[in-house]
Amino acid sequence: MPAHVPAEVRVDEQDIRLLPKAEVHVHLEGTFALVDLLRLAKENDVLLPGPAATIFDVSTHDAFAMPEVTTGGTGRGVGGAGLTGFLRFLDWQCGLVRTPEQAARIAYAFAARQTASGIRYSDVIVNPTHWSAWRGREIALMEALAAGFDEAEQDGLCATGIAYSLLRTQTAVEAEDVVRDLVQHRPRRVVALSVDGDEKTSGRTGEKFRAAFRAAEAAGLHRTVHAGESSGPEGVWDALDHLHAERIDHGVRSIEDEVLVRRLTDEGIPLDLCPRSNITLGVYPDWASHPLPRLVEAGVRVTINTDDPAPLACTLDEDWAVAATVFGYDLTDLAGFAAESIRASFADDDLKRDLLAELARVAEPEAVP
Ligand code: ADE
Ligand code: ZN
Repeated sequence: MPAHVPAEVRVDEQDIRLLPKAEVHVHLEGTFALVDLLRLAKENDVLLPGPAATIFDVSTHDAFAMPEVTTGGTGRGVGGAGLTGFLRFLDWQCGLVRTPEQAARIAYAFAARQTASGIRYSDVIVNPTHWSAWRGREIALMEALAAGFDEAEQDGLCATGIAYSLLRTQTAVEAEDVVRDLVQHRPRRVVALSVDGDEKTSGRTGEKFRAAFRAAEAAGLHRTVHAGESSGPEGVWDALDHLHAERIDHGVRSIEDEVLVRRLTDEGIPLDLCPRSNITLGVYPDWASHPLPRLVEAGVRVTINTDDPAPLACTLDEDWAVAATVFGYDLTDLAGFAAESIRASFADDDLKRDLLAELARVAEPEAVP
């Protein structure tokens, strides 16, 4: 741990919860709580793949174990069996959601859990390829989820926009078909096109998805792309050059390329970091080695997110508290991250303005420039 890092907890989680904030890198597939899974399994008369108590213990359960993959100094390697096994688990779990009511219930529960962390707006990533019961009915899935998000918002819970995600292994034609459907049907709450999945097993996919992303851009959809997690900086270059990404999900390995860091700062492209996910999936061995503070010091816009909070057993407020302790941030610094999360989000301008004004009232004024 660097010398400047204090051993004590620096910021109270309750104070963090009180900061109005956005979360912009969280997968709906990664938010099913154990109780949600048990209920879905019962409704569908399906057995869990292992004991309920260990369902999220990704290190011990064979059905979705993340075996050790050595990658030099970092220990477990994402992008080998780790992320692949994890994505298989998401397939199994989302396969349990079969009716519009079940989908709406998952959406509502998501908004409730986000609200409990003081999150007021989320860009939630939804990748329909995990939801096998909805194959060929992806727009209906979006509508069912939107109904849950609508009800949540009417009940005073956080607002949500959907980033509709392609899986990295999909073909160019499948990707273009997805965008054609989105443009034709304009499902409510879908604000962005995204790509997720394992960069390492799929290779460079920038060229493949270029036409789909151009069509999305022309239709006014935002663009956010997973890159620089299991791939190196080259994945981030592809996302910027070929896909015109407005934000990079992860992007953390940009730190390995000085020229890329300069491009990110010059163009004000935010990186949607998820330090706990990177550590659990073996990109970095521990919090102290995570490049978050180095990216901040280099002037890159960063947001701090959870990625897949249920299987990673975390909440956003807890992770911000850990970041404060490990990297030496105080509440004013965290209010700065809250402001960045709101600005980087795809929320509409009115909501952004309101949230920033509220944050300025709660936090030290200099934290919200
Ligand atoms: N889908 C869910 N979590 C993911 C991650 N960490 N990387 C890529 N795709 C994902
Ligand atoms: Zn992600």
